[in-house]
Amino acid sequence: MRILFCGDVVGRSGRHVVLSLLPDLRARLALDVVIVNGENAAGGFGITPAICQEFYAAGADLITTGNHVFDQRELIGHIDGDPRLVRPVNLQPGTPGRGSVEVKLADGRALVVIQVMGRLFMGAYDDPFRALDAELARFPLGARVAAIVVDIHAEATSEKMALGHFLDGRVSLVAGTHTHVPTADAQILPGGTGYITDLGMTGDYDSVIGMAKEISLQRFRSHVPGPRNTAALGDATFCGVFLETDDRTGLAKRLEPVRVGGRLRPHLPDAG
Ligand SMILES: [Fe+2]
Ligand SMILES: [Fe+2]
Repeated sequence: MRILFCGDVVGRSGRHVVLSLLPDLRARLALDVVIVNGENAAGGFGITPAICQEFYAAGADLITTGNHVFDQRELIGHIDGDPRLVRPVNLQPGTPGRGSVEVKLADGRALVVIQVMGRLFMGAYDDPFRALDAELARFPLGARVAAIVVDIHAEATSEKMALGHFLDGRVSLVAGTHTHVPTADAQILPGGTGYITDLGMTGDYDSVIGMAKEISLQRFRSHVPGPRNTAALGDATFCGVFLETDDRTGLAKRLEPVRVGGRLRPHLPDAG
């Protein structure tokens, strides 16, 4: 299976680069599936049902979220009705939405996407290790399910790496999100799971993790509340990874970063 996973889309400039590049990337990389982390797509804070529809129309198959999932309150009533929208699995019981989603491709292959929140320097979430064990008991890789992608939404690199090793051999890809800076450690772990600590954001890198740098600086330098933080509006870099899996085992065969446009040095995998 050929999968593209796009890191946290931030604001209008991030959305623009996703909508304009996805159709071409889908064709060029002969993608079977596109996953987009959309937790910051609405001005940096959450995502709206209308933005979800725009992403689907541009070629996204699934959207993951994160700690910002309900920043746009209209999503609370919407999320149960959208079977392709994933929120973290280790939220309080009774939270609307789904922490794992299974989709069937047109050719019959099944893909599962799970998102989990880390706990270090984050809020009070349930144990991500136990939550993932419980989910994976339902989805044995390589049997009925051809590929499993896990979005680790966490702050600490150590916690992300620990979760990567915890899942090694049991899922196709463990991809970190949330910190908005791409890491240079894309690799296939010894057990065959693709791993990257953070996909990086799809947003304007002339910013502080996607937000306007002047306002962000002021927030760091003063205790007096200033203007509300807003997304930076310069040219965005499309940032994510391309993964190719073995359909028989579900494990990773090839994992490469994808960076297009904006300020970061481009990297586009060859189609082969
Ligand atoms: Fe984010
Ligand atoms: Fe986040």
